[in-house]
Amino acid sequence: MSDQEKKDQSVSGSAFNFRIFLRVLGYAKPYRTVFFLTGLLTMVSAVLTPLRPLLIQYTLDNSIIIPDGELLERMSLIIVGLLFMEAMAQFSHTYMASWLGQSVIRDLRVDIYRKITNFRLKYFDRTPIGTLVTRAVSDIETIANIFSQGILIIIAEILKLVVVVAFMLYQDWRLALICLIPIPVLLFATNVFKNYIKLAFQDVRTEVSKLNAFVQEHITGMNIVQIFNREKQEMEKFETINGRHRDAHLRTVLANSIFFPVVEVLSALAIALLIWWGSREMLNGTVTYGSLVAFILYIYMLFRPIRQLADRFNTLQMGMVASERVFKVLDTDAQIQSSGKGLRPKIKGNLEFENVWFAYNDEDWVIRDISFSVKPGQKIAIVGATGAGKTSIINLLSRFYEYNKGSIRIDGTEIRDFDPAYLSIEVGVVLQDVFLFSDTIFNNITLNNPDISREQVIKAAKKVGAHRFIDRLADGYDFNVKERGGMLSVGQRQLLSFIRAYIYNPSILVLDEATSSVDTETEEMIQEAIEELTKDRTSIIIAHRLATVQHADVIIVMDKGKIVEAGNHQELLKKEGAYRNLYDLQFA
Ligand SMILES: Nc1ncnc2c1ncn2[C@@H]1O[C@H](COP(=O)(O)OP(=O)(O)OP(=O)(O)O)[C@@H](O)[C@H]1O
Ligand SMILES: [Mg+2]
Repeated sequence: MSDQEKKDQSVSGSAFNFRIFLRVLGYAKPYRTVFFLTGLLTMVSAVLTPLRPLLIQYTLDNSIIIPDGELLERMSLIIVGLLFMEAMAQFSHTYMASWLGQSVIRDLRVDIYRKITNFRLKYFDRTPIGTLVTRAVSDIETIANIFSQGILIIIAEILKLVVVVAFMLYQDWRLALICLIPIPVLLFATNVFKNYIKLAFQDVRTEVSKLNAFVQEHITGMNIVQIFNREKQEMEKFETINGRHRDAHLRTVLANSIFFPVVEVLSALAIALLIWWGSREMLNGTVTYGSLVAFILYIYMLFRPIRQLADRFNTLQMGMVASERVFKVLDTDAQIQSSGKGLRPKIKGNLEFENVWFAYNDEDWVIRDISFSVKPGQKIAIVGATGAGKTSIINLLSRFYEYNKGSIRIDGTEIRDFDPAYLSIEVGVVLQDVFLFSDTIFNNITLNNPDISREQVIKAAKKVGAHRFIDRLADGYDFNVKERGGMLSVGQRQLLSFIRAYIYNPSILVLDEATSSVDTETEEMIQEAIEELTKDRTSIIIAHRLATVQHADVIIVMDKGKIVEAGNHQELLKKEGAYRNLYDLQFA
Protein backbone atom coordinates (compact mmCIF):
# COMPACT_ATOMS: atom_id res chain seq x y z
CA MET A 1 0.00 0.00 0.00
CA SER A 2 1.41 3.39 -0.96
CA ASP A 3 1.56 6.27 1.49
CA GLN A 4 -1.14 8.10 -0.38
CA GLU A 5 -3.35 5.04 -0.26
CA LYS A 6 -2.79 4.73 3.46
CA LYS A 7 -3.73 8.36 3.85
CA ASP A 8 -6.88 7.81 1.81
CA GLN A 9 -7.83 4.75 3.81
CA SER A 10 -7.16 6.34 7.15
CA VAL A 11 -10.05 7.81 9.02
CA SER A 12 -10.30 9.34 12.43
CA GLY A 13 -10.21 6.78 15.18
CA SER A 14 -13.11 8.18 17.16
CA ALA A 15 -16.06 5.82 17.52
CA PHE A 16 -18.67 8.31 16.52
CA ASN A 17 -18.12 11.55 14.71
CA PHE A 18 -21.12 13.77 15.23
CA ARG A 19 -20.16 16.32 12.56
CA ILE A 20 -20.03 13.63 9.90
CA PHE A 21 -23.24 12.14 11.17
CA LEU A 22 -25.03 15.47 10.75
CA ARG A 23 -23.58 15.85 7.29
CA VAL A 24 -24.96 12.44 6.28
CA LEU A 25 -28.33 13.39 7.74
CA GLY A 26 -28.18 16.57 5.68
CA TYR A 27 -28.49 14.41 2.57
CA ALA A 28 -31.89 13.26 3.84
CA LYS A 29 -33.19 16.84 3.83
CA PRO A 30 -34.94 16.63 0.45
CA TYR A 31 -36.78 13.58 1.76
CA ARG A 32 -37.67 14.94 5.18
CA THR A 33 -41.36 14.00 4.88
CA VAL A 34 -40.43 10.36 4.43
CA PHE A 35 -37.81 10.69 7.16
CA PHE A 36 -40.26 11.97 9.75
CA LEU A 37 -42.96 9.56 8.64
CA THR A 38 -40.51 6.70 9.09
CA GLY A 39 -39.61 8.08 12.49
CA LEU A 40 -43.28 8.19 13.45
CA LEU A 41 -43.87 4.61 12.34
CA THR A 42 -40.84 3.66 14.39
CA MET A 43 -42.44 5.10 17.51
CA VAL A 44 -45.79 3.47 16.75
CA SER A 45 -44.34 0.00 16.31
CA ALA A 46 -42.16 0.44 19.40
CA VAL A 47 -45.27 1.00 21.49
CA LEU A 48 -47.50 -1.54 19.71
CA THR A 49 -45.27 -4.57 20.19
CA PRO A 50 -45.11 -4.58 24.03
CA LEU A 51 -48.92 -4.23 24.11
CA ARG A 52 -49.34 -7.81 22.96
CA PRO A 53 -48.15 -9.60 26.15
CA LEU A 54 -50.31 -7.21 28.16
CA LEU A 55 -53.41 -8.18 26.17
CA ILE A 56 -52.55 -11.89 26.33
CA GLN A 57 -52.18 -11.66 30.08
CA TYR A 58 -55.53 -9.94 30.38
CA THR A 59 -57.19 -12.57 28.18
CA LEU A 60 -55.69 -15.46 30.11
CA ASP A 61 -56.60 -14.13 33.51
CA ASN A 62 -60.11 -12.91 32.67
CA SER A 63 -61.49 -15.25 30.01
CA ILE A 64 -59.67 -18.57 30.34
CA ILE A 65 -58.81 -19.04 34.00
CA ILE A 66 -62.30 -17.70 34.71
CA PRO A 67 -64.09 -18.92 31.52
CA ASP A 68 -65.80 -16.14 29.56
CA GLY A 69 -66.40 -17.08 25.89
CA GLU A 70 -67.60 -13.68 24.79
CA LEU A 71 -64.60 -11.83 26.20
CA LEU A 72 -62.23 -14.45 24.76
CA GLU A 73 -63.67 -13.90 21.28
CA ARG A 74 -63.41 -10.14 21.58
CA MET A 75 -59.86 -10.27 22.94
CA SER A 76 -58.76 -12.66 20.19
CA LEU A 77 -60.04 -10.23 17.57
CA ILE A 78 -58.23 -7.33 19.25
CA ILE A 79 -54.97 -9.31 19.37
CA VAL A 80 -55.24 -10.29 15.70
CA GLY A 81 -56.00 -6.68 14.84
CA LEU A 82 -52.95 -5.55 16.79
CA LEU A 83 -50.75 -8.10 15.04
CA PHE A 84 -52.02 -6.86 11.70
CA MET A 85 -51.24 -3.24 12.60
CA GLU A 86 -47.80 -4.25 13.79
CA ALA A 87 -47.13 -6.04 10.51
CA MET A 88 -48.24 -3.04 8.49
CA ALA A 89 -46.13 -0.66 10.53
CA GLN A 90 -43.12 -2.91 10.17
CA PHE A 91 -43.59 -3.30 6.43
CA SER A 92 -43.93 0.44 5.79
CA HIS A 93 -41.07 1.20 8.10
CA THR A 94 -38.70 -1.25 6.42
CA TYR A 95 -39.66 -0.14 2.94
CA MET A 96 -39.50 3.57 3.64
CA ALA A 97 -36.21 3.36 5.51
CA SER A 98 -34.60 1.52 2.60
CA TRP A 99 -36.14 3.92 0.12
CA LEU A 100 -34.65 6.77 2.11
CA GLY A 101 -31.20 5.13 2.18
CA GLN A 102 -31.21 4.41 -1.54
CA SER A 103 -32.37 7.93 -2.41
CA VAL A 104 -29.66 9.47 -0.28
CA ILE A 105 -26.91 7.40 -1.86
CA ARG A 106 -28.20 8.07 -5.35
CA ASP A 107 -27.68 11.80 -4.66
CA LEU A 108 -24.32 11.20 -3.00
CA ARG A 109 -23.13 9.10 -5.91
CA VAL A 110 -24.03 11.85 -8.36
CA ASP A 111 -22.06 14.30 -6.22
CA ILE A 112 -19.00 12.12 -6.01
CA TYR A 113 -19.04 11.14 -9.68
CA ARG A 114 -19.33 14.79 -10.70
CA LYS A 115 -16.48 15.64 -8.35
CA ILE A 116 -14.24 12.91 -9.75
CA THR A 117 -14.91 13.85 -13.38
CA ASN A 118 -13.67 17.35 -12.61
CA PHE A 119 -10.45 16.35 -10.90
CA ARG A 120 -7.35 17.29 -12.83
CA LEU A 121 -5.18 14.44 -14.01
CA LYS A 122 -2.56 15.14 -11.36
CA TYR A 123 -4.97 13.77 -8.76
CA PHE A 124 -5.19 10.43 -10.54
CA ASP A 125 -1.39 10.13 -10.61
CA ARG A 126 -1.51 9.86 -6.83
CA THR A 127 -4.76 7.99 -6.20
CA PRO A 128 -5.22 4.40 -7.31
CA ILE A 129 -8.25 4.02 -9.58
CA GLY A 130 -9.41 1.06 -7.51
CA THR A 131 -9.72 3.30 -4.44
CA LEU A 132 -11.95 5.75 -6.28
CA VAL A 133 -14.11 2.94 -7.65
CA THR A 134 -14.53 1.65 -4.10
CA ARG A 135 -15.54 5.13 -2.93
CA ALA A 136 -18.12 5.61 -5.67
CA VAL A 137 -19.62 2.12 -5.49
CA SER A 138 -19.20 0.02 -2.36
CA ASP A 139 -18.44 2.65 0.30
CA ILE A 140 -21.54 4.50 -0.74
CA GLU A 141 -23.56 1.30 -0.50
CA THR A 142 -22.53 1.05 3.14
CA ILE A 143 -23.83 4.57 3.74
CA ALA A 144 -27.32 3.49 2.66
CA ASN A 145 -27.32 1.10 5.60
CA ILE A 146 -27.10 4.06 7.99
CA PHE A 147 -30.67 4.80 6.97
CA SER A 148 -32.06 1.38 6.15
CA GLN A 149 -30.59 -0.58 9.08
CA GLY A 150 -28.86 1.98 11.23
CA ILE A 151 -30.14 5.06 12.88
CA LEU A 152 -33.95 4.71 12.75
CA ILE A 153 -33.98 1.03 13.65
CA ILE A 154 -31.58 1.62 16.51
CA ILE A 155 -33.87 4.33 17.87
CA ALA A 156 -36.86 2.01 17.37
CA GLU A 157 -35.20 -0.86 19.13
CA ILE A 158 -33.96 1.17 22.06
CA LEU A 159 -37.39 2.72 22.42
CA LYS A 160 -38.94 -0.74 22.32
CA LEU A 161 -36.57 -1.95 25.03
CA VAL A 162 -37.41 1.03 27.23
CA VAL A 163 -41.14 0.50 26.72
CA VAL A 164 -40.85 -3.23 27.45
CA VAL A 165 -38.91 -2.64 30.66
CA ALA A 166 -41.35 0.10 31.67
CA PHE A 167 -44.33 -2.22 31.06
CA MET A 168 -42.64 -4.97 33.04
CA LEU A 169 -41.88 -2.70 35.98
CA TYR A 170 -45.35 -1.23 35.88
CA GLN A 171 -46.99 -4.65 35.86
CA ASP A 172 -44.92 -6.29 38.55
CA TRP A 173 -41.63 -4.81 39.59
CA ARG A 174 -40.52 -7.93 41.47
CA LEU A 175 -41.02 -10.20 38.46
CA ALA A 176 -39.32 -7.58 36.31
CA LEU A 177 -36.22 -7.49 38.48
CA ILE A 178 -35.99 -11.30 38.49
CA CYS A 179 -36.07 -11.33 34.67
CA LEU A 180 -33.40 -8.64 34.46
CA ILE A 181 -30.83 -10.58 36.52
CA PRO A 182 -28.98 -12.10 33.49
CA ILE A 183 -28.98 -8.77 31.60
CA PRO A 184 -25.56 -7.53 32.81
CA VAL A 185 -23.98 -10.77 31.55
CA LEU A 186 -25.78 -10.30 28.24
CA LEU A 187 -24.54 -6.72 27.93
CA PHE A 188 -21.00 -7.82 28.65
CA ALA A 189 -21.18 -10.69 26.11
CA THR A 190 -22.69 -8.35 23.54
CA ASN A 191 -19.89 -5.88 23.95
CA VAL A 192 -17.21 -8.55 23.54
CA PHE A 193 -19.00 -9.91 20.49
CA LYS A 194 -19.46 -6.47 18.96
CA ASN A 195 -15.76 -5.67 19.13
CA TYR A 196 -14.67 -9.05 17.86
CA ILE A 197 -17.03 -9.15 14.92
CA LYS A 198 -16.13 -5.60 13.95
CA LEU A 199 -12.49 -6.56 13.53
CA ALA A 200 -13.43 -9.73 11.69
CA PHE A 201 -15.65 -7.80 9.28
CA GLN A 202 -12.91 -5.28 8.63
CA ASP A 203 -10.60 -8.18 7.74
CA VAL A 204 -13.22 -9.61 5.41
CA ARG A 205 -13.56 -6.28 3.63
CA THR A 206 -9.80 -5.87 3.28
CA GLU A 207 -9.43 -9.38 1.89
CA VAL A 208 -12.33 -8.89 -0.52
CA SER A 209 -10.76 -5.74 -1.94
CA LYS A 210 -7.40 -7.50 -2.26
CA LEU A 211 -9.07 -10.39 -4.03
CA ASN A 212 -10.84 -7.99 -6.38
CA ALA A 213 -7.66 -6.10 -7.16
CA PHE A 214 -5.69 -9.30 -7.77
CA VAL A 215 -8.24 -10.90 -10.08
CA GLN A 216 -8.84 -7.68 -11.99
CA GLU A 217 -5.14 -6.96 -12.49
CA HIS A 218 -4.25 -10.50 -13.48
CA ILE A 219 -7.05 -10.91 -15.98
CA THR A 220 -6.05 -7.59 -17.56
CA GLY A 221 -2.41 -8.66 -17.64
CA MET A 222 -3.11 -12.29 -18.53
CA ASN A 223 -0.93 -12.12 -21.65
CA ILE A 224 2.11 -11.21 -19.54
CA VAL A 225 1.34 -14.03 -17.10
CA GLN A 226 1.09 -16.53 -19.95
CA ILE A 227 4.03 -15.27 -22.00
CA PHE A 228 6.34 -15.61 -19.01
CA ASN A 229 4.81 -18.84 -17.87
CA ARG A 230 3.89 -17.44 -14.47
CA GLU A 231 0.56 -19.25 -14.17
CA LYS A 232 1.72 -21.53 -11.36
CA GLN A 233 3.30 -18.82 -9.19
CA GLU A 234 0.38 -16.44 -9.68
CA MET A 235 -2.01 -19.26 -8.85
CA GLU A 236 -0.18 -19.80 -5.56
CA LYS A 237 -0.45 -16.11 -4.72
CA PHE A 238 -4.12 -16.25 -5.52
CA GLU A 239 -4.62 -19.26 -3.27
CA THR A 240 -2.95 -17.45 -0.37
CA ILE A 241 -5.22 -14.42 -0.65
CA ASN A 242 -8.24 -16.63 -1.19
CA GLY A 243 -7.35 -18.65 1.90
CA ARG A 244 -7.00 -15.52 4.03
CA HIS A 245 -10.41 -14.42 2.83
CA ARG A 246 -11.94 -17.73 3.91
CA ASP A 247 -10.29 -17.51 7.35
CA ALA A 248 -11.51 -13.97 7.93
CA HIS A 249 -15.01 -14.99 6.93
CA LEU A 250 -14.94 -18.03 9.18
CA ARG A 251 -13.99 -15.80 12.12
CA THR A 252 -17.27 -13.91 11.70
CA VAL A 253 -19.17 -17.20 11.50
CA LEU A 254 -17.42 -18.49 14.63
CA ALA A 255 -18.29 -15.33 16.57
CA ASN A 256 -21.92 -15.60 15.54
CA SER A 257 -22.18 -19.29 16.29
CA ILE A 258 -20.80 -18.79 19.80
CA PHE A 259 -22.70 -15.64 20.58
CA PHE A 260 -26.18 -16.74 19.51
CA PRO A 261 -26.39 -19.81 21.79
CA VAL A 262 -25.05 -17.66 24.64
CA VAL A 263 -28.02 -15.34 24.21
CA GLU A 264 -30.40 -18.31 24.10
CA VAL A 265 -28.92 -19.77 27.27
CA LEU A 266 -29.20 -16.43 29.05
CA SER A 267 -32.83 -15.98 28.08
CA ALA A 268 -33.57 -19.56 29.16
CA LEU A 269 -31.92 -18.72 32.47
CA ALA A 270 -34.14 -15.67 32.84
CA ILE A 271 -37.22 -17.81 32.14
CA ALA A 272 -36.09 -20.42 34.65
CA LEU A 273 -35.64 -17.76 37.34
CA LEU A 274 -39.00 -16.31 36.46
CA ILE A 275 -40.83 -19.63 36.73
CA TRP A 276 -39.00 -20.69 39.87
CA TRP A 277 -39.84 -17.51 41.73
CA GLY A 278 -43.11 -16.74 39.94
CA SER A 279 -44.76 -20.11 40.55
CA ARG A 280 -44.09 -19.81 44.27
CA GLU A 281 -45.65 -16.37 44.29
CA MET A 282 -48.54 -17.69 42.20
CA LEU A 283 -49.31 -20.24 44.93
CA ASN A 284 -49.29 -17.36 47.41
CA GLY A 285 -51.71 -15.59 45.09
CA THR A 286 -49.59 -12.48 44.53
CA VAL A 287 -48.80 -13.29 40.86
CA THR A 288 -51.37 -14.32 38.25
CA TYR A 289 -51.02 -17.08 35.68
CA GLY A 290 -51.42 -14.51 32.91
CA SER A 291 -48.56 -12.33 34.08
CA LEU A 292 -46.19 -15.31 34.13
CA VAL A 293 -46.97 -15.97 30.45
CA ALA A 294 -46.72 -12.28 29.66
CA PHE A 295 -43.30 -12.06 31.27
CA ILE A 296 -42.02 -15.03 29.26
CA LEU A 297 -43.00 -13.11 26.12
CA TYR A 298 -41.34 -9.98 27.48
CA ILE A 299 -38.11 -11.87 27.98
CA TYR A 300 -38.05 -12.75 24.28
CA MET A 301 -38.73 -9.12 23.42
CA LEU A 302 -35.80 -8.07 25.57
CA PHE A 303 -32.99 -10.50 24.87
CA ARG A 304 -33.13 -10.88 21.09
CA PRO A 305 -33.22 -7.13 20.35
CA ILE A 306 -30.25 -6.51 22.64
CA ARG A 307 -28.31 -9.05 20.60
CA GLN A 308 -29.38 -7.40 17.36
CA LEU A 309 -28.43 -3.97 18.63
CA ALA A 310 -24.80 -5.09 18.55
CA ASP A 311 -25.10 -5.73 14.81
CA ARG A 312 -26.89 -2.46 14.27
CA PHE A 313 -24.22 -0.42 16.00
CA ASN A 314 -21.59 -2.09 13.84
CA THR A 315 -23.59 -1.28 10.72
CA LEU A 316 -23.91 2.32 11.83
CA GLN A 317 -20.21 2.56 12.55
CA MET A 318 -19.22 1.02 9.22
CA GLY A 319 -21.54 3.48 7.53
CA MET A 320 -19.85 6.34 9.35
CA VAL A 321 -16.38 5.15 8.33
CA ALA A 322 -17.55 4.92 4.71
CA SER A 323 -19.09 8.40 4.94
CA GLU A 324 -15.87 9.84 6.24
CA ARG A 325 -13.96 8.35 3.31
CA VAL A 326 -16.50 9.54 0.77
CA PHE A 327 -16.62 13.05 2.22
CA LYS A 328 -12.84 13.14 2.05
CA VAL A 329 -13.03 12.71 -1.71
CA LEU A 330 -15.83 15.28 -1.91
CA ASP A 331 -13.72 17.77 0.04
CA THR A 332 -10.62 17.31 -2.11
CA ASP A 333 -9.70 20.47 -3.92
CA ALA A 334 -8.21 19.26 -7.18
CA GLN A 335 -10.25 21.00 -9.81
CA ILE A 336 -8.79 22.37 -13.01
CA GLN A 337 -7.79 25.92 -12.13
CA SER A 338 -8.90 28.74 -14.26
CA SER A 339 -8.43 32.48 -13.79
CA GLY A 340 -12.20 32.78 -13.90
CA LYS A 341 -12.21 35.21 -16.82
CA GLY A 342 -13.86 32.57 -19.03
CA LEU A 343 -12.98 34.21 -22.35
CA ARG A 344 -14.42 32.72 -25.56
CA PRO A 345 -12.87 34.80 -28.37
CA LYS A 346 -12.82 33.79 -32.03
CA ILE A 347 -9.50 32.00 -32.48
CA LYS A 348 -7.15 32.63 -35.39
CA GLY A 349 -4.62 30.05 -34.28
CA ASN A 350 -1.48 31.87 -33.19
CA LEU A 351 0.15 29.70 -30.53
CA GLU A 352 3.09 30.72 -28.35
CA PHE A 353 5.08 28.99 -25.62
CA GLU A 354 7.33 31.40 -23.73
CA ASN A 355 9.92 30.21 -21.20
CA VAL A 356 7.66 27.45 -19.97
CA TRP A 357 8.79 25.29 -17.05
CA PHE A 358 6.90 22.32 -15.73
CA ALA A 359 7.35 19.45 -13.26
CA TYR A 360 4.96 16.66 -12.31
CA ASN A 361 6.55 16.52 -8.89
CA ASP A 362 8.20 19.37 -6.99
CA GLU A 363 11.33 20.45 -8.82
CA ASP A 364 11.73 17.42 -11.09
CA TRP A 365 11.70 19.53 -14.23
CA VAL A 366 10.28 17.70 -17.21
CA ILE A 367 9.89 20.84 -19.35
CA ARG A 368 12.75 23.33 -19.03
CA ASP A 369 12.45 26.80 -20.41
CA ILE A 370 10.65 25.93 -23.63
CA SER A 371 9.84 28.70 -26.09
CA PHE A 372 8.42 28.38 -29.60
CA SER A 373 5.58 29.78 -31.63
CA VAL A 374 3.29 28.49 -34.35
CA LYS A 375 1.67 30.90 -36.82
CA PRO A 376 -1.94 30.39 -37.96
CA GLY A 377 -2.18 27.43 -40.34
CA GLN A 378 1.41 26.37 -39.72
CA LYS A 379 2.35 22.80 -38.98
CA ILE A 380 5.17 22.01 -36.56
CA ALA A 381 6.54 18.65 -35.59
CA ILE A 382 8.14 17.80 -32.27
CA VAL A 383 10.59 14.92 -32.18
CA GLY A 384 12.84 13.53 -29.48
CA ALA A 385 13.83 10.41 -27.59
CA THR A 386 11.37 8.65 -25.36
CA GLY A 387 10.83 10.54 -22.11
CA ALA A 388 12.01 13.83 -23.64
CA GLY A 389 8.82 15.58 -22.55
CA LYS A 390 6.80 15.64 -25.78
CA THR A 391 3.54 14.31 -24.37
CA SER A 392 3.97 16.62 -21.38
CA ILE A 393 3.70 19.60 -23.76
CA ILE A 394 0.25 18.37 -24.78
CA ASN A 395 -0.70 17.89 -21.14
CA LEU A 396 0.01 21.57 -20.54
CA LEU A 397 -1.74 22.85 -23.63
CA SER A 398 -4.88 20.84 -22.94
CA ARG A 399 -4.78 21.99 -19.30
CA PHE A 400 -4.52 18.49 -17.84
CA TYR A 401 -1.68 19.90 -15.74
CA GLU A 402 -0.73 23.41 -14.68
CA TYR A 403 2.62 24.79 -15.88
CA ASN A 404 4.86 26.19 -13.16
CA LYS A 405 6.57 29.10 -14.88
CA GLY A 406 6.35 31.04 -18.13
CA SER A 407 3.36 31.56 -20.34
CA ILE A 408 1.34 29.73 -22.99
CA ARG A 409 -0.78 32.01 -25.20
CA ILE A 410 -3.27 31.59 -27.99
CA ASP A 411 -3.71 34.77 -30.10
CA GLY A 412 -1.96 36.62 -27.30
CA THR A 413 -4.31 35.44 -24.53
CA GLU A 414 -3.02 33.30 -21.67
CA ILE A 415 -4.71 29.87 -21.88
CA ARG A 416 -5.75 30.15 -18.21
CA ASP A 417 -8.03 33.03 -19.14
CA PHE A 418 -10.10 30.97 -21.56
CA ASP A 419 -13.30 29.25 -20.60
CA PRO A 420 -11.98 25.67 -20.10
CA ALA A 421 -14.89 24.09 -21.98
CA TYR A 422 -14.36 26.46 -24.91
CA LEU A 423 -10.62 25.79 -24.93
CA SER A 424 -11.15 22.05 -25.07
CA ILE A 425 -13.28 22.45 -28.20
CA GLU A 426 -10.89 24.90 -29.88
CA VAL A 427 -7.78 22.86 -29.09
CA GLY A 428 -8.38 19.39 -30.50
CA VAL A 429 -6.21 16.65 -29.07
CA VAL A 430 -5.42 13.23 -30.46
CA LEU A 431 -3.63 11.26 -27.77
CA GLN A 432 -0.83 8.75 -28.09
CA ASP A 433 -2.86 5.97 -26.43
CA VAL A 434 -6.44 6.18 -27.57
CA PHE A 435 -8.87 5.02 -24.94
CA LEU A 436 -12.06 3.48 -26.29
CA PHE A 437 -15.15 2.62 -24.28
CA SER A 438 -16.75 -0.80 -24.62
CA ASP A 439 -19.33 0.50 -27.06
CA THR A 440 -19.90 0.76 -30.80
CA ILE A 441 -17.50 2.55 -33.14
CA PHE A 442 -20.19 5.15 -33.78
CA ASN A 443 -20.69 5.97 -30.08
CA ASN A 444 -16.94 6.03 -29.52
CA ILE A 445 -16.60 8.67 -32.22
CA THR A 446 -19.52 10.87 -31.15
CA LEU A 447 -19.08 10.13 -27.42
CA ASN A 448 -22.88 10.09 -27.32
CA ASN A 449 -23.17 13.70 -28.44
CA PRO A 450 -26.68 13.78 -29.96
CA ASP A 451 -25.79 16.74 -32.18
CA ILE A 452 -23.52 14.58 -34.32
CA SER A 453 -25.36 12.69 -37.03
CA ARG A 454 -24.45 9.41 -38.63
CA GLU A 455 -23.99 11.13 -42.01
CA GLN A 456 -21.51 13.54 -40.42
CA VAL A 457 -19.51 10.65 -38.98
CA ILE A 458 -19.41 8.74 -42.26
CA LYS A 459 -18.45 11.88 -44.16
CA ALA A 460 -15.63 12.60 -41.71
CA ALA A 461 -14.47 8.99 -41.82
CA LYS A 462 -14.30 9.15 -45.61
CA LYS A 463 -12.43 12.45 -45.41
CA VAL A 464 -9.73 11.11 -43.11
CA GLY A 465 -9.68 7.81 -44.99
CA ALA A 466 -10.86 5.55 -42.17
CA HIS A 467 -14.13 4.59 -43.79
CA ARG A 468 -12.51 1.71 -45.65
CA PHE A 469 -11.43 -0.18 -42.57
CA ILE A 470 -14.60 0.52 -40.57
CA ASP A 471 -16.73 -0.65 -43.47
CA ARG A 472 -14.85 -3.94 -43.50
CA LEU A 473 -15.72 -4.71 -39.85
CA ALA A 474 -18.55 -7.13 -39.06
CA ASP A 475 -21.16 -4.50 -38.12
CA GLY A 476 -19.45 -1.49 -39.65
CA TYR A 477 -20.10 1.58 -37.49
CA ASP A 478 -22.12 -0.54 -35.04
CA PHE A 479 -19.18 -2.84 -34.37
CA ASN A 480 -18.67 -3.14 -30.62
CA VAL A 481 -15.00 -2.62 -29.79
CA LYS A 482 -15.31 -4.36 -26.39
CA GLU A 483 -13.38 -3.33 -23.34
CA ARG A 484 -10.81 -0.60 -23.96
CA GLY A 485 -11.07 -1.20 -27.70
CA GLY A 486 -9.31 -4.55 -27.42
CA MET A 487 -10.71 -5.65 -30.76
CA LEU A 488 -8.80 -2.97 -32.70
CA SER A 489 -5.14 -2.34 -33.40
CA VAL A 490 -3.38 0.74 -31.99
CA GLY A 491 -3.30 2.38 -35.43
CA GLN A 492 -6.98 1.72 -36.00
CA ARG A 493 -7.86 3.14 -32.62
CA GLN A 494 -5.98 6.30 -33.46
CA LEU A 495 -7.81 6.59 -36.75
CA LEU A 496 -11.08 6.67 -34.80
CA SER A 497 -9.84 9.54 -32.69
CA PHE A 498 -8.81 11.37 -35.90
CA ILE A 499 -12.45 11.18 -36.98
CA ARG A 500 -13.49 12.53 -33.60
CA ALA A 501 -11.09 15.48 -33.93
CA TYR A 502 -12.15 16.14 -37.53
CA ILE A 503 -15.84 16.41 -36.62
CA TYR A 504 -15.20 18.95 -33.87
CA ASN A 505 -13.17 21.05 -36.32
CA PRO A 506 -10.83 22.68 -33.75
CA SER A 507 -8.83 25.85 -34.47
CA ILE A 508 -5.67 24.22 -33.18
CA LEU A 509 -4.83 20.56 -33.50
CA VAL A 510 -2.42 18.68 -31.27
CA LEU A 511 -1.58 15.19 -32.31
CA ASP A 512 0.56 12.63 -30.51
CA GLU A 513 1.34 9.88 -32.99
CA ALA A 514 0.96 6.32 -31.79
CA THR A 515 4.43 4.96 -31.05
CA SER A 516 3.85 1.36 -31.96
CA SER A 517 4.57 0.24 -35.49
CA VAL A 518 1.67 -0.35 -37.80
CA ASP A 519 1.26 -2.21 -41.09
CA THR A 520 1.84 -0.35 -44.35
CA GLU A 521 -1.83 -0.01 -45.14
CA THR A 522 -2.70 1.54 -41.75
CA GLU A 523 0.44 3.67 -42.04
CA GLU A 524 -0.84 5.06 -45.33
CA MET A 525 -4.26 5.73 -43.82
CA ILE A 526 -2.67 7.57 -40.91
CA GLN A 527 -0.57 9.77 -43.18
CA GLU A 528 -3.59 10.59 -45.31
CA ALA A 529 -5.61 11.42 -42.22
CA ILE A 530 -2.91 13.68 -40.77
CA GLU A 531 -2.65 15.45 -44.10
CA GLU A 532 -6.38 16.11 -44.10
CA LEU A 533 -6.59 17.07 -40.44
CA THR A 534 -3.74 19.57 -40.51
CA LYS A 535 -4.76 21.28 -43.76
CA ASP A 536 -5.00 25.06 -43.09
CA ARG A 537 -4.95 24.44 -39.36
CA THR A 538 -2.43 25.40 -36.70
CA SER A 539 -1.01 22.01 -35.75
CA ILE A 540 1.49 20.50 -33.40
CA ILE A 541 2.39 16.95 -34.24
CA ILE A 542 4.48 14.80 -32.00
CA ALA A 543 6.04 12.70 -34.68
CA HIS A 544 7.30 9.17 -34.58
CA ARG A 545 7.26 8.64 -38.35
CA LEU A 546 9.45 9.96 -41.10
CA ALA A 547 6.63 10.87 -43.48
CA THR A 548 5.01 13.05 -40.84
CA VAL A 549 8.24 14.86 -40.00
CA GLN A 550 9.09 15.71 -43.60
CA HIS A 551 5.78 17.44 -44.23
CA ALA A 552 6.18 19.81 -41.26
CA ASP A 553 6.97 23.51 -41.67
CA VAL A 554 9.20 23.47 -38.61
CA ILE A 555 10.70 20.57 -36.69
CA ILE A 556 11.54 21.02 -33.02
CA VAL A 557 13.97 18.55 -31.49
CA MET A 558 13.59 17.97 -27.77
CA ASP A 559 15.94 16.33 -25.34
CA LYS A 560 15.50 16.02 -21.58
CA GLY A 561 12.84 18.71 -21.52
CA LYS A 562 14.78 21.25 -23.59
CA ILE A 563 14.64 22.35 -27.22
CA VAL A 564 17.99 21.47 -28.72
CA GLU A 565 17.39 22.21 -32.41
CA ALA A 566 14.73 23.72 -34.67
CA GLY A 567 14.36 24.08 -38.43
CA ASN A 568 13.00 22.20 -41.43
CA HIS A 569 13.98 18.68 -42.44
CA GLN A 570 16.70 19.63 -44.90
CA GLU A 571 18.27 22.29 -42.66
CA LEU A 572 18.39 19.97 -39.68
CA LEU A 573 19.85 17.08 -41.68
CA LYS A 574 22.64 19.32 -42.89
CA LYS A 575 23.44 20.37 -39.31
CA GLU A 576 24.60 16.83 -38.53
CA GLY A 577 23.42 17.32 -34.92
CA ALA A 578 20.80 15.84 -32.67
CA TYR A 579 18.22 15.53 -35.43
CA ARG A 580 20.66 13.69 -37.66
CA ASN A 581 21.37 11.21 -34.86
CA LEU A 582 17.70 10.68 -34.13
CA TYR A 583 16.97 10.36 -37.82
CA ASP A 584 19.59 7.69 -38.35
CA LEU A 585 18.49 5.85 -35.23
CA GLN A 586 14.74 6.03 -35.63
CA PHE A 587 13.81 6.61 -39.20
CA ALA A 588 16.59 5.31 -41.38
N1 LIG B 1 2.06 11.59 -14.65
C1 LIG B 1 3.38 11.68 -14.48
N2 LIG B 1 3.89 11.84 -13.24
C2 LIG B 1 5.22 11.95 -13.06
N3 LIG B 1 6.11 11.91 -14.04
C3 LIG B 1 5.67 11.75 -15.31
C4 LIG B 1 4.27 11.63 -15.59
N4 LIG B 1 4.12 11.49 -16.91
C5 LIG B 1 5.37 11.53 -17.43
N5 LIG B 1 6.30 11.69 -16.49
C6 LIG B 1 7.75 11.82 -16.70
O1 LIG B 1 7.96 12.95 -17.50
C7 LIG B 1 8.98 12.73 -18.45
C8 LIG B 1 8.50 13.09 -19.84
O2 LIG B 1 7.43 12.23 -20.20
P1 LIG B 1 6.64 12.38 -21.55
O3 LIG B 1 5.47 11.48 -21.49
O4 LIG B 1 6.37 13.80 -21.82
O5 LIG B 1 7.69 11.81 -22.61
P2 LIG B 1 7.53 11.66 -24.18
O6 LIG B 1 8.54 12.55 -24.78
O7 LIG B 1 6.13 11.84 -24.58
O8 LIG B 1 7.98 10.13 -24.41
P3 LIG B 1 7.45 9.06 -25.50
O9 LIG B 1 8.18 9.35 -26.78
O10 LIG B 1 7.88 7.76 -24.94
O11 LIG B 1 5.99 9.20 -25.61
C9 LIG B 1 9.38 11.26 -18.31
O12 LIG B 1 10.60 11.24 -17.60
C10 LIG B 1 8.29 10.65 -17.47
O13 LIG B 1 8.83 9.68 -16.63
MG1 LIG C 1 4.70 10.52 -25.29
